Amino acid sequence: MAKKLWGGRFKKKIDKDFEQFSKSIQYDFKLARVDVFHSIIHTLALSGSGLLNKKETKTIIDALNEIIKDIDSGSFKPNLSSEDIHTDIHNRLQKKIGRLSAKVHTLRSRNDQIAFNEKFYCLDEAINIKNLVGDVLNSFFVLMKEYDNQPFVGYTHTQRAQVILFSDYLCAFGHMLARDSNRIKRFYDSVIPYVGAGALAGTSLHSKEYFKAIDVFFSYNHTGSDKIKSVESSIDNVSDRDFLIEFLGIISIIQMHLSRLAEDIILYSTQEFDYLDLPEEFCTGSSLMPHKKNPDFLELVRGYTGRIYGNQVSLMTMMKGLPMAYNRDMQLDKEPLFSSVEIIKSELKIMAKFIKGIKLNKEIIAEALLDERLYATELAEFLVFKGIAFKDAHDIVGKLIRYAEDNKTQVKQMPDKLLKKFCVKLNSSDVARVMHAAHAITSKKSIKRKVPKPDA
Ligand code: ARG
Repeated sequence: MAKKLWGGRFKKKIDKDFEQFSKSIQYDFKLARVDVFHSIIHTLALSGSGLLNKKETKTIIDALNEIIKDIDSGSFKPNLSSEDIHTDIHNRLQKKIGRLSAKVHTLRSRNDQIAFNEKFYCLDEAINIKNLVGDVLNSFFVLMKEYDNQPFVGYTHTQRAQVILFSDYLCAFGHMLARDSNRIKRFYDSVIPYVGAGALAGTSLHSKEYFKAIDVFFSYNHTGSDKIKSVESSIDNVSDRDFLIEFLGIISIIQMHLSRLAEDIILYSTQEFDYLDLPEEFCTGSSLMPHKKNPDFLELVRGYTGRIYGNQVSLMTMMKGLPMAYNRDMQLDKEPLFSSVEIIKSELKIMAKFIKGIKLNKEIIAEALLDERLYATELAEFLVFKGIAFKDAHDIVGKLIRYAEDNKTQVKQMPDKLLKKFCVKLNSSDVARVMHAAHAITSKKSIKRKVPKPDA
């Protein structure tokens, strides 16, 4: 077993089963890089406070930088017998510099480290997720351009409603994603990784030494390092996981958007709708039915919603009722966090490629657009502009549609004489013009048809 960061007061050895049960190294190794960042800042603060001399400081910082190099090159393998990533990094340092490593943890607590690490991890991943959301947004733009001016069937209650542009439909998802992107940006701006909390009560190192250390670390140019501060409330810092709940909340909203998108595409690609043809490289076949082309990617996206919402609920429930300040329960925040981050990144990455591969079945859509019920609202509006009150116009068109349905005809087919029985303001040439996709589209003047550019 790897050496622990504690143990002096214990006479008995830790129970093996409990030891295994309490470990987090199998997942928190993901925080290795940011854990070393914390050690660098802390070492610099100890040095500034006179607790490490120049030579010791250089030896420690050089060794820590070597560990970062190992992590970046992919040669870093966590020692799974360590209790957690903090212990693992400490033991590694000990192998490199011997006894001197014992000074690095001076006036430091893992409670402080883990809060710092998780915030730094979130900052990095917020940027990654924001970029991936941007890629999906760009794919929507590609599709919007490809099908510029293509009329499409608009639904409410999954019932045919009114004619829209396919790009209007895509634009709605563009707005969702732009909001997601801005939500991540606001989150990024709000997260502050603190140093100097100790276990909960702060440390005897002066905050100005932490700030000096942060400044030096900032010159290393690691993303997010401009946000680090010396702690303001040490107790809150070690006990706060609001930022994780917020991050998982934002991921849940993105997931909800992807799930709704997935559901729509699944529906529109069924033989019953057949509006869309899906990119084959993201579909799978059936082991039994030779003809099948199944939308498995979209189904998995929809299915993962349970996991992602569950991760958020699990975190909120774990935090509920925790006494101040750090409690070991909080170790369990990592699996839901990593799980949601990994899932959403994979989904977004694949979705960006998937969207670009969607093809419209224009003939099928054209046929659907012949359904004149789609233009009932436009006809009522036409009558309004002829001076008829909307409620009356609604009634007239309702009766017309009902008549056409009962008599197996179309309103567009009805002669002037018949039309005028419903309303004297109607004639067949106006009806033919108004009950048409081109009119339905051009008569809509209230829409700006614009996707907001997400904040940088
Ligand atoms: N592995 C712990 C966590 O993830 C690190 C902090 C442990 N602190 C302690 N006092 N046992 O939360």
